[in-house]
Amino acid sequence: MKTLIKNGTVATASDIFQADVLIEGEKISLVGINLAQRVGAVDRTVDATGKYVIPGGIDPHTHLDMPFGGTTSADDFETGTRAAAFGGTTSLVDFAIQPQKGALRQGLDDWHKKAEGKACVDYGFHMIVRDVNKDTLGEMDTLVKNEGVPSFKMFTAYPGVFLVDDASIFRAMQRTGGNGGLICMHAENGPVIDVLIEQALARGDTAPKWHGLTRPPRLEGEATNRVIALAEVAKVPVYVVHLSAKEALAEVREARDRGVYAYAETCPQYLFLSHDNYEEPDFEGAKYVMSPPLRMKGNEDSLWHGLKQDDLALVATDHCPFCMKGEKELGRGNFAKIPNGAPGIETRMSLLWDGGVRAGRIDINRFVQITSTAPAKIFGLYPRKGSVAPGADADVVVFDPEKEIRWSAKTHHMRVDYNPYEGRVTRGAPTHVFSRGELIVENDQWRGKAGHGRFIKRAGPLAR
Ligand code: URP
Ligand code: ZN
Ligand code: ZN
Repeated sequence: MKTLIKNGTVATASDIFQADVLIEGEKISLVGINLAQRVGAVDRTVDATGKYVIPGGIDPHTHLDMPFGGTTSADDFETGTRAAAFGGTTSLVDFAIQPQKGALRQGLDDWHKKAEGKACVDYGFHMIVRDVNKDTLGEMDTLVKNEGVPSFKMFTAYPGVFLVDDASIFRAMQRTGGNGGLICMHAENGPVIDVLIEQALARGDTAPKWHGLTRPPRLEGEATNRVIALAEVAKVPVYVVHLSAKEALAEVREARDRGVYAYAETCPQYLFLSHDNYEEPDFEGAKYVMSPPLRMKGNEDSLWHGLKQDDLALVATDHCPFCMKGEKELGRGNFAKIPNGAPGIETRMSLLWDGGVRAGRIDINRFVQITSTAPAKIFGLYPRKGSVAPGADADVVVFDPEKEIRWSAKTHHMRVDYNPYEGRVTRGAPTHVFSRGELIVENDQWRGKAGHGRFIKRAGPLAR
């Protein structure tokens, strides 16, 4: 199958130029001028006049079909990857979980089963490590070397569920020094947060906003400082996930200025929402219960600055949807029982274009960098993914900078009964989405199929 995307403006992380793009089979074969006159007959032509042709988005932080506190995240690999595609994201990296007292292998097998035959776009896995011992350290080597899973998430939060102590984190970090993997850290001081939660509940402060107020930004800053220190002593890179607070960003910046390989991602919710959302009437604030929490208004300015300066390497979603009905509701009368997480897999690209590029906060190259190229490079998918270049997978998005979307739970494709951006209008959205040469979204119509998405074995991060 040959597809010609003609008359578009190709935008990569470094360049913008007028060019046609030829897709043959699963790959981009040519990027050049006037290809229609040079390549002969094609099976399909897409006219991209007035549109950008960009690499498909890569979301390196999702939780599909994930059990959490007696519930399970609402999107599975079929509904989640389809929603991702509608939003212009053509690859994602989801978090497999080591079972309590179980082996990493078991967690990996579980996640392969969840995804196989269901995923509509390509995917990889990180592994959440909750128990560091001789066996799991050995398994980490195997995952990096043989299984294409070179990244691991560990937590300084959620005591009794995911938290691991500093010594365990340090041992795992040292191990990645030998095997070339990357440790991703959820950095909040969980034990101290638990004291604040206990005290709030004892006072009768049970509303959703207390989720935010019991997780102060200083405790994200402290944990971020700590995990960077551990990585520095272990002499390995570290990647801080879902960074929300300017206090944590300051720690990353300070370390990077000293030459430490500290990477961090933020998420759209920390750029476009704030603590004010927790103050919404009734129980509506529960929609925004996630960890780390939304921060006070003004904090987002620091994050945008960090994105411009590359102290924040990219924007992931932390897509972890729970319905209000039957799930978030479990925390009525006790905010600590509200499942943590929010939807975002579909909204990321349009929010960042509208609030980033159109608002003049970032340019188009930086948009491509933070949504696709940087995740590809850091998480071992580059150059197969993350660029519009001959030889790359034809994961390509034709992006109309003028296309408007009014976001609503009634029309979005995520399997969740609310949208955190309900009623918000964004300008800039995909019209055509290709995954390895297959046209899977065409002008809001679904053309893809479950099972098209493949597991991608990833390499270790590029920069060490
Ligand atoms: O609230 C969140 N972020 N839920 C998903 C789990 C995690 O910590 O990333
Ligand atoms: Zn986390
Ligand atoms: Zn997460």
